[in-house]
Amino acid sequence: MWSQHRVVRNRVTLTLRAVLSSSAVLGAFAFPVHRPGPGTSAAALEDTLVTPPVLKNISTVPGTIEVNLAAAPARLALLPGHATDAYAYNGTVPGPTLEVHEGDHVIIHFRNELPEATTIHWHGLHIPADMDGSPLRPIGAGKQYDYKFTIPRGTAGTYWYHPHPDARTGYQIAMGLYGAIIVRDANDPLPASLPEKLLILSDNRFLPDGSPDIADPHSPQGQIDRENGREGNVLLVNGQVMPVIGIRSGEVQRWRVINVSAARIYRLAIPGQTLLHVGDDGGLFERPRELNEILLANSERVELLVRGSGPPGSQTTLQTLPYDRYDPHTRPANWEVSHDLLSLRYSDAPPVPPPALPAVMRIVTALDTSRVTARRVIVLSQELINGKTMDMNRVDVRSRLGATEIWEIDNVVTMDHPFHLHGFQFQILDRDGVPEPYRSWKDVVNVRKHQTVRVVVRFDDFPGKWMFHCHILDHEDHGMMGILEVRPPPVRRRM
Ligand code: C2O
Ligand code: CU
Ligand code: CU
Repeated sequence: MWSQHRVVRNRVTLTLRAVLSSSAVLGAFAFPVHRPGPGTSAAALEDTLVTPPVLKNISTVPGTIEVNLAAAPARLALLPGHATDAYAYNGTVPGPTLEVHEGDHVIIHFRNELPEATTIHWHGLHIPADMDGSPLRPIGAGKQYDYKFTIPRGTAGTYWYHPHPDARTGYQIAMGLYGAIIVRDANDPLPASLPEKLLILSDNRFLPDGSPDIADPHSPQGQIDRENGREGNVLLVNGQVMPVIGIRSGEVQRWRVINVSAARIYRLAIPGQTLLHVGDDGGLFERPRELNEILLANSERVELLVRGSGPPGSQTTLQTLPYDRYDPHTRPANWEVSHDLLSLRYSDAPPVPPPALPAVMRIVTALDTSRVTARRVIVLSQELINGKTMDMNRVDVRSRLGATEIWEIDNVVTMDHPFHLHGFQFQILDRDGVPEPYRSWKDVVNVRKHQTVRVVVRFDDFPGKWMFHCHILDHEDHGMMGILEVRPPPVRRRM
């Protein structure tokens, strides 16, 4: 029965929320929610969390990563235990991880074996516009395309890839098309000894046979999905329900977390533990931030250091706490429920001494706001950007190559809209006038209900047309998107 997969309310939630709200000081609480785990052996605990395979490099040239990637119909279980018709990259959901290093030349031989057009968008990568996989460059059913690009220096971090065809992105991702990208730095400032985990968070809603429940757009559910964004009641980590990660007391793990959900925003917490937030969309930042919880909006990534601060043999969970991103009229009845995402189990082995962590990881140099040549206002309302629906033949913003600009993003409605810009990473200056407490590279920012966020961006390279849009997939597919054109400076003629 599929009901056994339904997410259940965790009993510690209410207590935890009370503690969180009363604990203004970071790291101020040490709450004994660690429960004794089931009999665990002193040996290292095996994860049940399955990591997606890494795309196989078929090149023998140093510094070149050449891979084959196909999107095709597949018979597999998007809902664990129920094989149905799905879409998959190279036959797996999540798709295989593209692992590269800064400076690598990447060649992806892509084949579209789907019965419909698609693209692959390399979300967050700073690469030429014709390689961006935007809706401007669809790849028809049965067609092939070679994506080729170089990974810029200084961009080590966690990214992801997904289809981006006009109006069909939400459908194709719900059918199983998404995968991670890890860009590594040969001189990573974090110790290589930290065990690394990749967590791709998704949710889905299923019909009784286990196939994705994608509502008729004219049905009441279809209308709600269009407004709220399609949320599912089954929460998955790497396609699994409640997998286990084993940890030893004292150990520190490095988690790369990606939100590929169409609409769900995660408010992540591990009861009884704090999290060390060390990286954002574009990689590590200067100093770790100790947090009780962290918000992860659609398409955002974070790197977290999870410290094994619990006693041997105990266990806790990674949870998503209630978060009200909704318009009051369509807010789901059960929005105030926490969900468990995975179980963190401590082995019985005695604690190990925690590894030394660097105080400074990577300097993120501030973009020079004294050289700003344009200030733009981007107004987000329901399904519209600056009052307009996406038009592939219209350019909404024209910028010059080399320009540094401040974009003020105003959300004028009563639900959150995560704003994403293709191709260029930006820095958040302030939210409702409150300066951002730390500096990092971002390509998406959640703009809360009636909030104004200012970001600074530099168009240092890559002329062409770039999308910007809300990353709630239903909003994007219904045209909550615009086009930025970055143009080279005019050529001066000699008289
Ligand atoms: Cu993941 Cu146009 O974005
Ligand atoms: Cu993107
Ligand atoms: Cu939106």
